[in-house]
Amino acid sequence: MKYMTAEPFRIKVVEHTRKTTKAERQIYLKEAGYNAFRLKAENVYIDCLTDSGTSAMSANQWSAMMLGDESYAGCSSFYKLEQSAQEFFGMPHVQPTHQGRAADYIMSQLYARKDHYAIGNMHFDTFRGNAEILGALAVDYAIQEGMDAASPAHPFKGNICLDKMQALIDEKGADRISVVIITVTCNNNGGQPVSMRNIRDVSQLAGKHGIPVVMDSARIAENAYFIKQREQGYADKTIREITCEMCSYCETATMSAKKDGLVNMGGLFVTRNKKIFQKANQLAIVHEGFITYGGMSGRDMEALAVGLREACEESYLEYRIGQVKYLGDQLKSKGVPIIEPTGGHGVYVDGRRFFSHIPQHEFPSQRLVVALYEEAGVRAVELGACAFGSKDPNTGNPIWPSLECMRIANSRRVYTNSHWDVVAEALGDIYANRNSYRGMKLVYEGDITALRHFVAGFELL
Ligand code: F0G
Repeated sequence: MKYMTAEPFRIKVVEHTRKTTKAERQIYLKEAGYNAFRLKAENVYIDCLTDSGTSAMSANQWSAMMLGDESYAGCSSFYKLEQSAQEFFGMPHVQPTHQGRAADYIMSQLYARKDHYAIGNMHFDTFRGNAEILGALAVDYAIQEGMDAASPAHPFKGNICLDKMQALIDEKGADRISVVIITVTCNNNGGQPVSMRNIRDVSQLAGKHGIPVVMDSARIAENAYFIKQREQGYADKTIREITCEMCSYCETATMSAKKDGLVNMGGLFVTRNKKIFQKANQLAIVHEGFITYGGMSGRDMEALAVGLREACEESYLEYRIGQVKYLGDQLKSKGVPIIEPTGGHGVYVDGRRFFSHIPQHEFPSQRLVVALYEEAGVRAVELGACAFGSKDPNTGNPIWPSLECMRIANSRRVYTNSHWDVVAEALGDIYANRNSYRGMKLVYEGDITALRHFVAGFELL
C-alpha cells in the first residue's frame, strides 16, 4: 500500500519520560553497582531492557478489561481466553498461569527428569533453572550459525541441529532424553526464528524415538511472520495458520504471554494431551490458582484473549519486525557489529567485536550497557559473560559462554523510530570512541551463579 509505511496505530495515551544529565546518570550507575537491573526505571530515557510485559495495550484490550469476570471458578473471561488460545495454538486444552516461568515450572515437572537430557535450540533461563533443580541435563543444540554472533546472515539461526540431536540419541539412547523444547523465536541468540521445516524434522526424529516435543512459544507470532516471509510455501498463509501448523508438530506449548500475548502479565500452558493437561491442572491448583484462572485475574485474561488476536495481524507484525530492522540497518551503517539478520524482538550487538580489546572476563557487553546508559539514558541488557557465564561444578573455574552480546529489546507498540534514531546515534558515537573504554570487574554475584546478572555489582577498571 503506497505511502502507508508509518506505524499501524495512533497514540491515545502517553507516558512521560524524564531527561537526565550525564552527571546524574553517572551517580545512578554508581549507586546501581553498574548493573542495569538495579537502575530505577524513572531514571531511564528509553528502556530496552526487555520486551517482556512492556507492551502498550490497545483500546480494544483496555475496554475488554472492564468485562473481566473475577469469579473463582468458571469465569466467562476464562472461556474467552480458552477460545482465543485454541484458535492461536490449534490445541484443545488451555491452562492459564501467572506468567511464563510458571508454565515452565509445570512443564519441567511433567517433562524433565533427573539425569535425563532436555534438548533445546537454546533453553531460556527459567526452564534451565527448573531443569537444574530437578537434576535434568539441559543442552543447547542450535545450529552452528546460531551459536556465533559473527556468522553471516542465515534465515533461520534458531534451528536445532539434527545431527547433534541424532548423535545424542545414538550415544546415550533415546530413553535418556525426556523432551525436546523448541524456543520460538530463539531469544538467547538474537530473537532468531526456527523454520517450519526444522520444527517438522525435529518432531519427526523425536517422534520416531517416542520423545515428546514442547514449544516455548513466547514469540511465536513473530516466528510465524519470519516463516511467512522467508520459507517457501507460506507466503499466502495467515499468521494463525502458521502458528497452528508450528504447534501441530508439538504435544505441548508454554507461553510467556508478556511477549506476543501483548499483555503486561500472564502465561499459558496448552496441550493436546489430556492426561498431561490433567496433571498440569493439579500443579496449577497447588502453585497458581484454580484451573480457570491459574494466577490471572479475569480482566487480565480478557486482555490476553484480545492480545493473541492482535499479535497475528500482519500490519502489526510488518511494522514490528520492520522497526527492529530499521535500528539494525542504522547501526550497521555506522559500523556497529550486530547479529545478522536482525531478529524479532530486538537488536543484539556483538560485544566481542565491539570492544575487541576488552577480554570476556572483563565483561565487554556489560561495559557497553553501562556506556549506553551513561551517554544517552538508554537501558539495554547484557547477554554474555555475566548472564550466561557459569562455573565448573568440580573446580569452580569460570566457564565463558560462546555468545557475548548486548540486547536492545524492542517493546511492542511503545517506541517510535525517533527513539531508535537516538539509540543508533549514541551507539555510533560510542563505537567511534571505543578504544577509550576499559573493562569491568565483578565484585558481587550472590549465591546462585545462574541468577547473578539480576543482582550483580561491578566496578569500572
Ligand atoms: N521463555 C522465553 C523464551 C522467555 O524469553 C521468557 C522471558 C520466559 C520463557 C519466561 O517468561 O518472564 O513471563 O516468566 N523472557 C524475558 C526476557 C524475561 O527479557 O527475555 P516470564
